[in-house]
Amino acid sequence: MVKLGVNIDHVATVRQARMTNEPDPIWAAALAELGGADGITVHLREDRRHILDRDLHLLAKTVAVDLNLEMAVHPEIVEIACQVQPAQVTLVPEKREEVTTEGGLDVLGNRQAVENAVGELKEKGIFVALFLDPVREQIDLAKELGVDGIELHTGKYALTEGKAQEVHRQALVQSGNHIHELEMRLHAGHGLTYRNIGPIASLPHLFELNIGHSIVSRALFVGLKEAVAEMKRKIVQTTR
Ligand code: PXP
Repeated sequence: MVKLGVNIDHVATVRQARMTNEPDPIWAAALAELGGADGITVHLREDRRHILDRDLHLLAKTVAVDLNLEMAVHPEIVEIACQVQPAQVTLVPEKREEVTTEGGLDVLGNRQAVENAVGELKEKGIFVALFLDPVREQIDLAKELGVDGIELHTGKYALTEGKAQEVHRQALVQSGNHIHELEMRLHAGHGLTYRNIGPIASLPHLFELNIGHSIVSRALFVGLKEAVAEMKRKIVQTTR
């Protein structure tokens, strides 16, 4: 069964809009777990625009399922990750001016920095994944650097429709097969919604999906536990 990691960053976004103490992402993690989340995902950004250090430390103590920390290849954040030791880290590119993570990590262009971060994190026993576009050379280099898993960026699939969308899905299928052949774990995420999840949940060899914005948006109207349960049902329906 494909696992669902629920990204709760945007619960913290609402809190930070007022720089107050509610809504608390710690509550969100508990409700997501009650709804059937297999993992909780948070992105500790350099600018701390949503998730704060306090959140990460508390989540590490309270989350019962796997905690997945999305983070940039940045020495300060690598040090925090090594201290907190979440079950999993997903290395992502990060730009201060972006609204959300825009593309996959460029491992080819940042080989040394990625290699150092992967080494330090793996030394602590953390499962390390890279967030990549479906590009063969990037995937091959990730394998060379000892990475455990690849989260394929589904943003282009999510932003298109019809034939164009199918072209992007085929690229994900091919890269997914390649990742599987290289014996790395296949994850996918970004821009996935209740409407477009089906063809991605059924990708061959898929182990884990990470979904945030769409679930937190629906939670405003139906509650987080129900929003997570609904997404789980969609995933189960397409993978049965
Ligand atoms: N996976 C990664 C690596 C991400 O950076 C994000 C966004 O934080 C997500 C998944 C979730 O994307 P969305 O919020 O669009 O579901």
